[in-house]
Amino acid sequence: MKGIILAGGSGTRLYPATVAVSKQLLPVYDKPLVYYPLSVLMLAGVRDILLVSTPHDLPLFRRLLGDGAQWGVRLSYAEQDKPRGIAHALVLAEGFLAGGPSALILGDNVFFGNDLDLRLAEGRRTAEGATVFAYRVADAERYGVVEFDGAGRALSLEEKPRAPRSDWAVTGLYFYDREAPAIARSLAPSARGELEITDLNRIYLERGTLRVTQLGRGYAWLDTGTHDSLLEAGEFVRAIEKRTGQKVAAPEEVAWRMGFISDAELLAASAPLRSSGYGRYLERLIQHRAP
Ligand code: G1P
Repeated sequence: MKGIILAGGSGTRLYPATVAVSKQLLPVYDKPLVYYPLSVLMLAGVRDILLVSTPHDLPLFRRLLGDGAQWGVRLSYAEQDKPRGIAHALVLAEGFLAGGPSALILGDNVFFGNDLDLRLAEGRRTAEGATVFAYRVADAERYGVVEFDGAGRALSLEEKPRAPRSDWAVTGLYFYDREAPAIARSLAPSARGELEITDLNRIYLERGTLRVTQLGRGYAWLDTGTHDSLLEAGEFVRAIEKRTGQKVAAPEEVAWRMGFISDAELLAASAPLRSSGYGRYLERLIQHRAP
């Protein structure tokens, strides 16, 4: 299964913080925002990843992430000239996916939780249909919203409804079978001129092949769409990292724990990061070999 990170968009809701630099390059506490979704894909065992961004920001992502070899993954890049919607990323990625299934994640979504790897493994098994994740929020009208029946089956999907039928938001992590690029191509742009991911998911729902997995209260799914929520995500990560002494979403650590890189490769990746403490943290992983 191949992965796609969508890190496009104009970020106008965070202006002026994002006038010169993409939102996904801004820090969430101690690391760039894009590290969080990248770590999620890696934790799902996805090692061949396409990052989609604007012509202006792509060189910066390349500078930050390179070809991924340092983390035992393969990163490639594709340009989205202007915001054309999340589903458009699947159209752009069609050649890259080469008829295979995909894991698509939004570059600004932060996930955290025990057993996240198990939920991701469920998604990875998506050979037919699609798997998406729902999370209970207090402001569902800002998201794609899924309504469930009494048995927990998805009934409807709506994008940013004025009157949400439930408080379950659809998160920005989607697993699709090989059909997704063709379905995305068949979509008509919405009123805001974009190919909406909710329209694509609704087609899977109508076909009866959409699985919606609820992420319960033991998980955190954090938003970074406003100045407040970006700061709160940073505060959340800081609190967890300070309390546990463990980093959230360090790609080097994920790569090492997943067996993508050796001890020697972890040490090599740590060396340039020593002076911030991040590198020393990575070195200690080997010394302590914590489970
Ligand atoms: C997008 C999707 C929405 C989803 C959200 C998750 O919203 O359109 O369905 O719930 O991402 O982050 P947007 O980022 O365009 O507001």
